[in-house]
Amino acid sequence: MDNKLVPPLKWAGGKRWLVPYLRELWEPYNERRLVEPFCGGLAVALGLRPRDALLNDINPHLLNFYRWLQRGLVISQEFVNDKDFYYRARSRFNELIKTGGAGSREAAELFYYLNRTGYNGLCRFNKNGEFNVPFGRYRRINYVYDFRAYRSVLGKWEFQTGDFAGIGLGHEDFVYADPPYDVEFTQYAKGGFTWEDQVRLANWLAKHPGPVAASNQATERIIRLYAELGFELIILKAPRRISCTGDRSPAQEILALKNVAEKGAEPWWRKSTTENWESEQQA
Ligand SMILES: C[S@@+](CC[C@H](N)C(=O)[O-])C[C@H]1O[C@@H](n2cnc3c(N)ncnc32)[C@H](O)[C@@H]1O
Repeated sequence: MDNKLVPPLKWAGGKRWLVPYLRELWEPYNERRLVEPFCGGLAVALGLRPRDALLNDINPHLLNFYRWLQRGLVISQEFVNDKDFYYRARSRFNELIKTGGAGSREAAELFYYLNRTGYNGLCRFNKNGEFNVPFGRYRRINYVYDFRAYRSVLGKWEFQTGDFAGIGLGHEDFVYADPPYDVEFTQYAKGGFTWEDQVRLANWLAKHPGPVAASNQATERIIRLYAELGFELIILKAPRRISCTGDRSPAQEILALKNVAEKGAEPWWRKSTTENWESEQQA
């Protein structure tokens, strides 16, 4: 029954769409530990269902929510999709952060409510460390109150908060890394993740003797970075959400692979996507 567990939050950059590709890579290693340095909304871990996993993210509120799911969270308060209710909940969440209550069950419950009700499921903080996402104006929201179904699955996994470099990797670990996208030609680093962080990550991954898969936006410099470190590159077309400019064109996503065994014939998706990319570059 728990096969149907879906990611409980809305999370920017969710990789549910990538799970069928990753499953092919993961299958030969599915007895190993899955390590996700950027676990975000858990789409990959819930899709692959490893027996053993280490799931890390720098966002402490996200990790607090998952730790309460591990304990079988059942939300006791009633949530309302209403502007005034939202801003009161937001103030209370910020008060908890200020007064040392960020690890509480109430903070986990409010984090879920703010994520489902706030604008686009964003998770942003101002300079004073206050959550400042505005009300989302959704017509209808089906809030989940009983998360006990997640307990048995998440209960077996280890969760960690912090920068990816703080992870102690075992030689055999299968690492799937999904950092904030590289955004070339803008001054903004998405999620505060700078170009130096992208380079630091690629070098950290290149040192790992076990299997590695890393996804990112297929910018020129990301392609060069991973190619120079000896990764095999696959270009995929990611489904792109409608942006504020109305651009619906699919983003190009890269999958960089290292120490991943080939299983006989080349998988269909690998061949076609690489060819697509090459022909587009030559056009
Ligand atoms: C693209 S999202 C991951 C999405 C995830 N794969 C999913 O399917 O939902 C990138 C994540 O990296 C986290 N992050 C940003 N900087 C980080 C760092 N230095 N170390 C670890 N995590 C970081 C963000 O909090 C965010 O959740």
